[in-house]
Amino acid sequence: MNPPWWQTTVFYQIYPRSFADSNGDGIGDLDGITAHLDYLNDGTVKSLGIDAVWLSPINPSPLKDWGYDVSDYCGIHPDLGDLASFDRMLAEAHRRNIRVILDLVPNHTSDQHPWFLQARSSRSNPKRDWYIWVEGNPDRPPNNWLSAFGGPAWEYDAATASWYMHSFLASQPDLNYRNPEVVSAMHAVIGFWLDRGVDGFRVDVISYLMKDAALRDNPLRSDSSIFTRRDPQGEQLHLYDQELPETHDVIRGFRSVLDRYRDRMMVGEVWVREQRSLAAFLRPDQIQLAFNFRFFMCPWEAAAFRSVIEESEDILPPRAGAWPTYTLSNHDFPRHISRYQSGAETEARARAAAVMLLTLRGTPFLYYGEEIGMRDVNVPFFASRDKVGRDGCRTPMQWSRNGGFSTSDQPWLPMGDCAAIAVELQGEDDRSLLSFYRRLIRLRKTTPALLEGSYDAMPAPHDCLAFRRERPAGDDGQRVMVAINFSNAPRRLDAPPGTILLSTVGGRERERVGGSLALSANEAAIIELSR
Ligand code: GLC
Repeated sequence: MNPPWWQTTVFYQIYPRSFADSNGDGIGDLDGITAHLDYLNDGTVKSLGIDAVWLSPINPSPLKDWGYDVSDYCGIHPDLGDLASFDRMLAEAHRRNIRVILDLVPNHTSDQHPWFLQARSSRSNPKRDWYIWVEGNPDRPPNNWLSAFGGPAWEYDAATASWYMHSFLASQPDLNYRNPEVVSAMHAVIGFWLDRGVDGFRVDVISYLMKDAALRDNPLRSDSSIFTRRDPQGEQLHLYDQELPETHDVIRGFRSVLDRYRDRMMVGEVWVREQRSLAAFLRPDQIQLAFNFRFFMCPWEAAAFRSVIEESEDILPPRAGAWPTYTLSNHDFPRHISRYQSGAETEARARAAAVMLLTLRGTPFLYYGEEIGMRDVNVPFFASRDKVGRDGCRTPMQWSRNGGFSTSDQPWLPMGDCAAIAVELQGEDDRSLLSFYRRLIRLRKTTPALLEGSYDAMPAPHDCLAFRRERPAGDDGQRVMVAINFSNAPRRLDAPPGTILLSTVGGRERERVGGSLALSANEAAIIELSR
């Protein structure tokens, strides 16, 4: 039986405002995406070869959180186009066998959404209970819950002498999923886009959907966690505002809508206290994929990545039917090439990271621009857009040495160093990072062991990572070894006999190895082992 498409797909996240501007207003748009689909996959080796795109939110929004504050779930933001340009983009993507998933932001709306405008208009409005309100006085919020963006998770509404709850900005009130009308309204939204032909959704903060009915205080946490350092909510144990057991019922409801259609999927943005809890979301009646954000916290050390991978393999073993997901960059964190920069070794590390991402057992998600090595841009204060400082990883795609993103000389965010890093500079150069991504994606797609094989760790020096991907003998018994050197110095690993399929260092393809494998600094190699 063939695995479902989302297990063998390479996803590519597009931040629509920053991909390509077709009408010269300095803002990327849907027609711009359509115009660059051939770059993503034109069916030949000249294109990147990805199989699906995830678009960050494209709905109308006052842009307080750049689209993650939706004011109309069934429309298109006028900066980006309209439903006609959306339909064109979708049809053109499908014509190239590129699937399209949209960002669904069900946890909260914009405070400008008509639902909230009605809800806040009076205590007796029929939409009042679509959000989470507590009557009271302005001196004391109803409980100790905190916003992920800092400060209390409660905003006082003087007109109705009540507090409303917001997990993010005060302009992003949380919906009340204890109200069945909200559940049906969101099912209708999901159905609207599935009817239009989208292949699924990336579901924003899916683990936040339900809140404690009694609104109990969260306990303070006593342990230290990897989240506590940067996370404004890190001091609390989110027993009552996140990861409630009832959340899974809401997700099952979403899934029941999806299952009325053929072959549609959801990938959840799941923030969990314990990585182990991911499995509870990856049930046959819930989401098919869940982001694993642990790589974002890993320093450039083999041991750090090894422990994330092994934990993931342990939680989601092949027999459990659930499938891992890996990603290194997205619109919320500094790009991994910038996180791992190390002078002249920076690009070598980016190549090695790509090998890891695209050869693990699991579905990889790429972030636009990583294939050319786009760096985070130092956005000066006067040009900054995002309230919580995530502009650096959201800058326009660097198409040409002159930018190539827009005909406007005022792009909505400043461009990075296009004279050094651009598609135009790399597209025809066999040795470029872009050409390497193309070869790597193609190799993944044509190597069954990499798509479906089991994962087994192999012995390696402490600053190297080695693993084997293997198909059952009953299929073709293909075995592939992946070896990655995380050190800035050469290393030597034990390796069974085989042939190099691809190395981050050019010119090693078809080289025979056996007994031992030499890797240069930050080199990664993929080796087909002899049968
Ligand atoms: C998710 C999004 C982030 C957004 C937040 C609130 O974490 O990835 O960009 O700000 O949700 O919607």
